[in-house]
Amino acid sequence: MTRLAGKVAIVTGAARGLGASISRQLHAEGAQVILADVRDEEGAALAKSLGERAHYVHLDVSSETQWADALAAARRRFGPVTVLVNNAGIYRTQATVDVSVEDYLQIIRINQLGTFLGLRTCYPQMRDAGGGSIVNIASTAGIEGVPLALAYTASKHAVVGMTKAAALEFGPAKVRVNVVCPGAMLTPLLVESLHVPLSALSAAPFANSPMGRMGDPAEIAPTVVFLASDASSYTTGSEFVVDGGLTAGVKMPAQ
Ligand SMILES: NC(=O)c1ccc[n+]([C@@H]2O[C@H](COP(=O)([O-])OP(=O)(O)OC[C@H]3O[C@@H](n4cnc5c(N)ncnc54)[C@H](O)[C@@H]3O)[C@@H](O)[C@H]2O)c1
Repeated sequence: MTRLAGKVAIVTGAARGLGASISRQLHAEGAQVILADVRDEEGAALAKSLGERAHYVHLDVSSETQWADALAAARRRFGPVTVLVNNAGIYRTQATVDVSVEDYLQIIRINQLGTFLGLRTCYPQMRDAGGGSIVNIASTAGIEGVPLALAYTASKHAVVGMTKAAALEFGPAKVRVNVVCPGAMLTPLLVESLHVPLSALSAAPFANSPMGRMGDPAEIAPTVVFLASDASSYTTGSEFVVDGGLTAGVKMPAQ
């Protein structure tokens, strides 16, 4: 398990959900991992439980100054960052006519601006270190629409677009940029936003996907490990959909 030995990774939104699982698997593969989040207690506890090659920093991804501080702290601790996982994100559902400008901008600030700031802040370190890998976490909402989630859909389409623009620009410096689009994953984000008991979540619409279930958070991290590693050395500007087949096409009703 040393596919990432020698890599220094920063994972945003690392305190829980997909970010926690990604941090654990990057660490297990030998990377030095900076866990970044606004949930300081949970993030620090996770870093402590991982041990020596893990360190927690407070980072609100929508803050330019906090990105600069986090990167400086990461560099002091482990050296230049060579892997960035832009994972932090929020999800809200609301009828579009009820979405205030502030509601809309809150999602854009964290999901879209946060990803931009991560790309812009980390790229120079990666370029100067001779290369790196950036993995953005979008969503199937980055490739299709989600009803009652217009701002979220907009933010995730932006993340997919930024991935391609950055891949074109950063490629000559050997900095690869790819995007992972998870489907419905059983994390606090989904459970809290849907306001329904877990038992109801295992029913439609996910039951209608080819896999017939929601995803476990640990099912995203292996794709991120691949993209962070040198095994994906010729892969950049690409989307990786990990959704149990949810977006594969229309499923005909059972006969
Ligand atoms: N769970 C799903 O079904 C699903 C599906 C597709 C995409 N995603 C995406 O995956 C990513 C992770 O989602 P999750 O399900 O693990 O969510 P989660 O809510 O369980 O975890 C998200 C983490 O991001 C942190 N965070 C929120 N705002 C932040 C900010 N401003 N700065 C730094 N950290 C912040 C939270 O504190 C939390 O620890 C998000 O980008 C989300 O949009 C999730």
